[in-house]
Amino acid sequence: MTQERWTAVDRYHTDLLVRPDAVLDAAVQASAAAGLPSISVTPSQGKLLYLLAKMQGARKILEIGTLGGYSTIWLARALPDSGRLITLEADPRHAEIARANIARAGLANVVTVRLSLVMETLPQLAAEGQGPFDMIFIDADKENIPEYFTWALRLSRQGSLIIVDNVVRNGAVADPASKDASVLGVRRFNEQLAAELRVSATVMQTVGSKGYDGFTLALVISDEGERGSK
Ligand code: SAH
Ligand code: DHB
Ligand code: MG
Repeated sequence: MTQERWTAVDRYHTDLLVRPDAVLDAAVQASAAAGLPSISVTPSQGKLLYLLAKMQGARKILEIGTLGGYSTIWLARALPDSGRLITLEADPRHAEIARANIARAGLANVVTVRLSLVMETLPQLAAEGQGPFDMIFIDADKENIPEYFTWALRLSRQGSLIIVDNVVRNGAVADPASKDASVLGVRRFNEQLAAELRVSATVMQTVGSKGYDGFTLALVISDEGERGSK
């Protein structure tokens, strides 16, 4: 099986199940025109995030890693009118493009882009009492996923859903000899997850227009840290 096939099948499903959307297209175009890397989630993955947020009945969502706001728009659209989404971004250029894309989507009153390093913003969110979030999407640098996940748990409640992007990395995650900093971050996270009794988790490998990768889904089953049946 080849990338060409994965892309063709992704397009087949996307053409059928993801409605043409001028706002999302404009976000992709504006991000590309500004030279942002094309590493957003794909349309089918964006819709997966939207559906998961809907299933979750999410009212408060935290996103870690905004880029041009493509996944942000998918997630924010799943919220009720009173819902709120906070998304974290350290690159001022990315944040500027994201804010414009989010405003064009009519979501400026729902979404707040917080411009700072993730590890600076997360303790601030906790201090401000912004949690608990119903859903948290971790999609920034991969080296520090374990630290972001630790904070995600602090900002969660029983029933919160934590999703982590890019946890398969073309299969490199299963190579114990890898010296790639991103792979090492994901592997450290997987060991953390295996020992974490407060969540029940699985990893879904994905193929599609963005290659071979995967998502971790972790459901917070207890906010006490006690033993549960995983
Ligand atoms: N979620 C987006 C893609 C995010 S790409 C989407 O699917 O549409 C990852 C983003 O995280 C980049 O914009 C990058 O600038 C940002 N980022 C990486 N490390 C960061 C850090 N330590 N603090 C804040 N933002 C960071
Ligand atoms: C990269 C980051 C991502 O969040 C992603 O989904 C794909 C690639 C990257 O940094 O290369
Ligand atoms: Mg990603």
